[in-house]
Amino acid sequence: MNAPLRKVVFPVAGLGTRFLPASKVVAKEMLPVLDKPLIQYAVDEAVDAGADTLVFITSRYKHAIADYFDTAYELEQKLERSGKRELLAAVRDLIPRNVRCVYVTQSEALGLGHAVLCAKPVIGDEPFGVILPDDLIWNRGAGALRQMAQFAPSRDAGVIAVEEVPRDETHKYGIVDAESGDGRAARVRHVVEKPKPEVAPSNLAIVGRYVLPGRIFELLEKTTPGAGGEIQLTDAIAALLRDGDVHAFRFDGTRFDCGSKLGLVQATLHFALQDPALADATRAFVKSA
Ligand code: G1P
Repeated sequence: MNAPLRKVVFPVAGLGTRFLPASKVVAKEMLPVLDKPLIQYAVDEAVDAGADTLVFITSRYKHAIADYFDTAYELEQKLERSGKRELLAAVRDLIPRNVRCVYVTQSEALGLGHAVLCAKPVIGDEPFGVILPDDLIWNRGAGALRQMAQFAPSRDAGVIAVEEVPRDETHKYGIVDAESGDGRAARVRHVVEKPKPEVAPSNLAIVGRYVLPGRIFELLEKTTPGAGGEIQLTDAIAALLRDGDVHAFRFDGTRFDCGSKLGLVQATLHFALQDPALADATRAFVKSA
């Protein structure tokens, strides 16, 4: 496709039960890795891919996300008056000026596929990206979504990020059956949501990054509840495969599953070790622990 992805969807309505009791009041996307919430890393990756429209699919419990991206006049004035320029920039420049945020409420938690379908009126009929902020991807070069947008062979093709997972974890992911490919990308033959290891077609798991054609919406409209009784994005992608083109894409980068406690700890340690102000003390602490 080689064109920037203009619109990116962030399904953020989920309850985040794995982080209860904190997630009773703190949206899990607002949990920080060092000083930035997970949603900020996701938004930075979307902007890096060329997005100018960020579509957040939220719920009544997730107002903090809109508040976070909104202007905080009092705070900004205080920082300005006290000459704290760096901090002022840190709270002001969360999103470039040409980028707009759109918030859509998903009033019932009917699944990831349903959440993405809620974005239909904003997206229309153009290719778009989806980022699940739980999956934090770190790398030094182009972000994972930009890599995928640059790879996308046409406007009608789907591209899903994948990586190998331990065989006994297939029940946590969408699992891909793909042709052999070139080591980087491979045509998908089939996808299945959360199969048990005994029936999983492979151990190649979908990671939370997608480039999808506008046509996915009509397929989502026809998708009935699947795994866990939820409307699954994976099932709509399986339908897209019947007469379309979907590619599994191995991105450059390290993924942290920040939907789990261990993943959040690992991400925090990783980012601390990348930060010159924290690296030595963090390394010393981990060695002595
Ligand atoms: C979702 C998708 C799944 C994918 C996973 C990646 O599952 O349904 O196909 O592998 O994200 O993080 P969830 O983690 O929301 O259960």
